[in-house]
Amino acid sequence: MEHFLSLADWESSDLIDLIEQAVFLKREHRTGGNRQMLANKSLGMVFQKPSLRTRVSFEMAMKHCGGHALFLGPQEIGLGKRESIADIARVLGSYVDIIMARVFDHAHVEQLAEWSPVPIINGLSDFNHPCQAMADVLTIYEEFGELEGLQVVYLGDSNNVTTSLAFAAAKFGFQLVIASPEGYKMDAETIKRARLLGSSQDTVVEVSDPVEAVQDADVIYTDTWTSMGQEEEAAQRREIFPPYQVNHQLIANAPAHTIVMHCLPAHRGEEITDSIADGPQSRLFQQAENRLHAQKAILVRLLTR
Ligand code: CP
Ligand code: NVA
Repeated sequence: MEHFLSLADWESSDLIDLIEQAVFLKREHRTGGNRQMLANKSLGMVFQKPSLRTRVSFEMAMKHCGGHALFLGPQEIGLGKRESIADIARVLGSYVDIIMARVFDHAHVEQLAEWSPVPIINGLSDFNHPCQAMADVLTIYEEFGELEGLQVVYLGDSNNVTTSLAFAAAKFGFQLVIASPEGYKMDAETIKRARLLGSSQDTVVEVSDPVEAVQDADVIYTDTWTSMGQEEEAAQRREIFPPYQVNHQLIANAPAHTIVMHCLPAHRGEEITDSIADGPQSRLFQQAENRLHAQKAILVRLLTR
C-alpha cells in the first residue's frame, strides 16, 4: 500500500505525475468544479498541532471531490497517550479510507503507516512537510513553466519545511541553496541523503552569507524562525536570525525575476517584512491556495489506485 510520508520515498516520475494532475484538478476546479472522484470516501485527520491551511485544504479537497473529512484534534484521541499508535491506526483505519496525521515525532507517522490498513499522509512532522513541498513545487512550476535547473534559496531555520524542499530539489531537479546561522543548519545526514537522491553534490548547497545566497535566486523562500514545539526558544532565536530576514535590502541583491515564497503562518516583521509578503514578488497566497490542488492530486492517487 502507498503512503505519503516523505518525498524521498517516491519516484520522480510519480511526483511529476502528481504535479501534472494537480495542474489539471486546479483548472477543473476553476471551470465548473471537480468530478466526484472521491465519492463515499472518508479522510480521518489527526492533529497533534494547530493548523489553518492543512486542516481546511484537506477538508475542502475531500468535499470538492465528493468525499468527507473528519477532524480529530489533540484533545480527542491523544496519539500514543490515551492508547497506542498501533491500536489507533487499526481502529481509525477500519472507519475511514485514508488518514492524514500532523505529529511531533516523525516516527509516529511511520508507526501509523506500519499498522494502518489504509494509506497514511504526513500532514507535517518535526522531520518534514511533504504536502507543503508539493504545493511549493506546483507554485514554482506555474511561475516558470519548468523546474529543472532552477535555483531555490532558503533563508533562516533549517527545519521540516527545508527538509522537504531538499528532497523536492532531488526529485524535481532544481537546486536548493540554504543559508542558515550556525547551530540551525540542516543536519549532515539529510543533506547527504538529498544529494544521493538527486545524484549530485549540487542538489543542496550551503552558504553562510544571505546576500551571497540570493545572487542567482529564482525563488527566495523562508519560514518561521521558531517552529511549533520550539516556543520556549523563541526569544533566543529572535536574537540570532535577523540577518536572514527577507526584506527589501536583501531582495535588492537578487535578480529582478525572483519570486518570494513562505509556507505560512508568517511572523511578519521577523523572517519576512510586510512589504515583501504583500509586494509584487510575493507568491505566498497562490502557494497557500495550491495546498488544496496539490493535496487533491495526492488523495486521488492514494484512493483510486
Ligand atoms: N503551511 C501550513 O502547513 O500551514 P498550517 O500550519 O496552517 O496547516
Ligand atoms: N516549520 C513550521 C511550519 C509550519 C507550517 C512549523 O513546523 O511550525
